[in-house]
Amino acid sequence: MPANPFTLGVASGDPHPDGVVLWTRLAPEPLAADGHGGMPRRPFTVAYEVAEDEGFARIAARGHALATPELAHSVHVEVCGLRPGREYFYRFRAGTELSPVGRTKTAPAPYAMPDELRFTTASCQAWYHGHFTAYEHMAKEDLDVLFFLGDYIYEYGITATNLWRQGVPMPAAEHGVETVTLEQYRLRYALFKTDPHLQAVHASVPWVITTDDHEVQNNYADEWSETGIPPADFLRRRAVAYRAFYENLPLRAVSLPDGPHLALHHRLRWGRLADFNVLDNRQHRDPYPAGAVVDNSPERHDPSRTILGARQEKWLFDGVRRSQATWNVLATGVVMAQIDRDTGPGELYSNDMWDGFPACRDRLFAALRQSPATPVVLSGDIHRHVAAELKTDWRDPASATMGVELVGGSIGSDGDGADTDSFGPLWLANPHVKLYNARRGYLSCRMTPTALTSEFKTLPYVTRPGAPVTTAARFVTEAGRPALNREV
Ligand SMILES: [Fe+2]
Repeated sequence: MPANPFTLGVASGDPHPDGVVLWTRLAPEPLAADGHGGMPRRPFTVAYEVAEDEGFARIAARGHALATPELAHSVHVEVCGLRPGREYFYRFRAGTELSPVGRTKTAPAPYAMPDELRFTTASCQAWYHGHFTAYEHMAKEDLDVLFFLGDYIYEYGITATNLWRQGVPMPAAEHGVETVTLEQYRLRYALFKTDPHLQAVHASVPWVITTDDHEVQNNYADEWSETGIPPADFLRRRAVAYRAFYENLPLRAVSLPDGPHLALHHRLRWGRLADFNVLDNRQHRDPYPAGAVVDNSPERHDPSRTILGARQEKWLFDGVRRSQATWNVLATGVVMAQIDRDTGPGELYSNDMWDGFPACRDRLFAALRQSPATPVVLSGDIHRHVAAELKTDWRDPASATMGVELVGGSIGSDGDGADTDSFGPLWLANPHVKLYNARRGYLSCRMTPTALTSEFKTLPYVTRPGAPVTTAARFVTEAGRPALNREV
């Protein structure tokens, strides 16, 4: 075993009442140009231990896993037999090398009603646009789970033009091109994962992960590439992109891609407090109407259009209708609330978001209304903090609010930002939009049986390290009475 193989850190994910997924990837030279992380091309056995205490005196589980070159020497261990609602510590050993210790937590028992759940959301971590100071602050929070809502990597070449992260050397030439091959995608994950604050948050809380577009290519829809790549070629690229995604994150074996197909959408239950429906809004969506990303074509309203695909729609609608939880949460990559970008009498929508699929959104809202659970949507993509009320009739501000949407900004994408920007007035002209903030940061939530408190955490700058964190806004949403009540 080469020395120091744990340069990419450790991670846990997908907490169940009886277990979690543990992850690491052996890579003594994480940025080796060939994408193999400096590992010899043969399998290695990796041991793991899970304990109730940080000193590993009370062992709860232990075993071995195989790290193979086919999967970039990644390790995915699905630990079961753990106790619900408890903190655990874990570590790996490869040869005589010990990994850092990770901390994780199991979900509560299925029928338990936990007093509170502390979670954050994160998305859009363009490493080259800024330091991951948001994660530095997040690592200090006492969290049960993190929801990652897409754009873990970006496919764009990193050049002197878009390298805004100050104080780091210009990445080597192999990072200067758009990622297309398996090795290039692997290398991109490794580069982003060199950030110590990202590693610290992976090691401190289990992640629940979905993708948006940049894990493959900007604005793709199923097999349709924005740049007109023939679908057969694009699916080959999607296959390697999904494989690198699996290799580098704590995902269950069910998410090991089968060619270009990735099983990603799933449901996580937090006792009787919340159901979390983790959605895949890229892989099964219909293409843009007439190829237009922002427009108001009648084709938008075609009832057959879907952002989820027929199978995921059925699974989702059945699940949310039957929910017995207090909160019915949807974790989705792109914004769900209707956002008319024309401040005059005309209408203009982004078909990249749920606005491109209004009939599908209507079907979802009809299903959500059949459960007493209060709907909460967590999303990302736009690199802005937004809070919006979800309306039963978007055209009537006096119509009932059926849920809330919380968009948690971006970790690094778009650099320093500002409190507002040229898009702010367009978004805020929609009366159900209650917050717009164009700074980097994350969303921090405390969910109880009676209320959801959401705090939007922002940073004054990210191109330099060391920014302090501010709570730019705090909202309280009462269970059963959905609205955004602003406190800060
Ligand atoms: Fe993004």
